[in-house]
Amino acid sequence: MPAVQTIAVIGAGIMGRGIAHAAALGGYRTILEDLLPNALRKAETEIRSNLDKAVELKKVTAADADSAFKRLEFAGSVEEAARQADLVIEAVPEEMESKIEIFTLLDKICRPTTILASNTSSLSVTEIASVTYRAKRCIGMHFFNPVHKMKLLEVVRALETDEDTLNTAVEVGRRMGKEVVVIKESPGFITSRINAMIGNEAFYMLQEGIASPADIDKALKLGLNHPMGPFELVDLVGLDTRLNILEYLHKSLGEKYRPAPLLVQYVKAGRLGRKSGRGVYEYPETPTTR
Ligand SMILES: NC(=O)c1ccc[n+]([C@@H]2O[C@H](COP(=O)([O-])OP(=O)(O)OC[C@H]3O[C@@H](n4cnc5c(N)ncnc54)[C@H](O)[C@@H]3O)[C@@H](O)[C@H]2O)c1
Repeated sequence: MPAVQTIAVIGAGIMGRGIAHAAALGGYRTILEDLLPNALRKAETEIRSNLDKAVELKKVTAADADSAFKRLEFAGSVEEAARQADLVIEAVPEEMESKIEIFTLLDKICRPTTILASNTSSLSVTEIASVTYRAKRCIGMHFFNPVHKMKLLEVVRALETDEDTLNTAVEVGRRMGKEVVVIKESPGFITSRINAMIGNEAFYMLQEGIASPADIDKALKLGLNHPMGPFELVDLVGLDTRLNILEYLHKSLGEKYRPAPLLVQYVKAGRLGRKSGRGVYEYPETPTTR
């Protein structure tokens, strides 16, 4: 199969922006697309600013940052973004219906050899791939937040994924500067399954009044050497994203993953984390969306 030259990223939220940043820096022509023009404008500003920070920290040369930025394009429709892509990475919200809608459309638009990847944190790539006529060319590429800093990429092999697709995804991941682990599809893969469990337990503790959020975070950082506390992390990830993952794990793996009622209540209240100005903690610098 021909090597990947052009990558389209569908969804320019927290993850899509970071994936586009890493792909452009890895030397790929990168086309980022979102339903919302505002999300694209925000992505462009944030990617430029993160590239500038990387130059200041001497992690990237100014010339490499500028060429990466030049390799970035922004598109207003999935058709425009994906038509010419060799690899499409989908990063729309964690809902099966949205993923299925995008993959159905991508299968119609893209060349037959184009690889369709999902950045899903927990959903079945096999199920997403089943709506296409190219299940062999579908795969999971699970990046971590913030993508331009986090080293790991979980490459998820779905039931029908072929060897060439797997090898290509691993090679692209490495060129994007990631350490890759390859796993057989299973709900929540390695990281989301363990992380969701820890984060959910923290919400049960908070609900039971065992300790304050700051003390629960402090205990995990200083006692267990976690780089971030579970509440700092869920505010970064998004409480809605975490709830979607837990609901899926609960449905597929059983009772021990039942989402803590307090997490459900926070999401209902619009406390989604940093992105909405308030999650477990408050972020006065971000305007609240409600
Ligand atoms: N947030 C995390 O820490 C994290 C980590 C790893 C993986 N993920 C996964 O990445 C995916 C995206 O998560 P996120 O946190 O970036 O979400 P997000 O809500 O920040 O961004 C999603 C973006 O997709 C856009 N969108 C929605 N429907 C679309 C469509 N039909 N076409 C084009 N764009 C569309 C939205 O406008 C939004 O900008 C999810 O599957 C999530 O589980 C998230």
